[in-house]
Amino acid sequence: MKIGIFDSGIGGLTVLHQALITLPKEDYIYYADTDNVPYGIKTREEIIGYVDRAVDFLVGKGVKAIVIACNTATSTAADYVRSKYTLPILGMEPAVKPAVAKSHGKRVMVIATPVTVREEKLRALIEQVDDEHLVDLVALPGLVSFAEAGIFEGNEIEQYLRHELSDYHLANYSALILGCTHFNYFKDSYCKVFPKGISFIDGSVGTVNYLKRILTERNLLENNHGTVEYYMSGRPVYRDEELQKLSGLHMRLDKMLKL
Ligand code: DGL
Repeated sequence: MKIGIFDSGIGGLTVLHQALITLPKEDYIYYADTDNVPYGIKTREEIIGYVDRAVDFLVGKGVKAIVIACNTATSTAADYVRSKYTLPILGMEPAVKPAVAKSHGKRVMVIATPVTVREEKLRALIEQVDDEHLVDLVALPGLVSFAEAGIFEGNEIEQYLRHELSDYHLANYSALILGCTHFNYFKDSYCKVFPKGISFIDGSVGTVNYLKRILTERNLLENNHGTVEYYMSGRPVYRDEELQKLSGLHMRLDKMLKL
């Protein structure tokens, strides 16, 4: 049985990429909801509808577990789909707690989509761990559009970041929490805009380790070949050109892992 990984678009490839490293003997289905991306500026009801359809598709394919590799979808729709199905459905949440614990009094910035930034869930989490008021929460929806357009570096990105972050004294920050899976593609640009030595915190490793634990506990680990079937809003991806684009994205993510 395969593992289903789902995102609004190419963001969740960061989780698939990590899963192929940590669990190379599993087979995967990756579902990008390209008809409806971006989720981060939609209503709760719309997002719940999209996630419901994607999860239903993956369940129909007989997957043994699903990872919602999207912070926006997790914060709005994970509880709903978990209440409908019995298979494990894992989500993603910005890793605020470990970042604050390691910040040594310096500031921490969480960047995410407007929906995630507005959600009560994330605000409550920050309130719980941020005694010293060190955490800032910033919505950067433009990065999702850049990623989906295949623009990952260059002046346009740096200018966008500098403009959106102009109210913050960036030299005070020690950690940047990537609270949207699409944001992993831009680490080289963050390095140019934030002070040297800024650490990046993203949820992929934690989520995949948790997936491994769940599969181990339920005796669901397999010895397969690490194959991936890709779907765009339910349509299979098989054209060479599209597959090459996906393999280019994996190559970029490889590079980003080293930053
Ligand atoms: N990749 C998604 C996340 O992690 C959201 C991107 C979107 O706006 O669709 O939040």
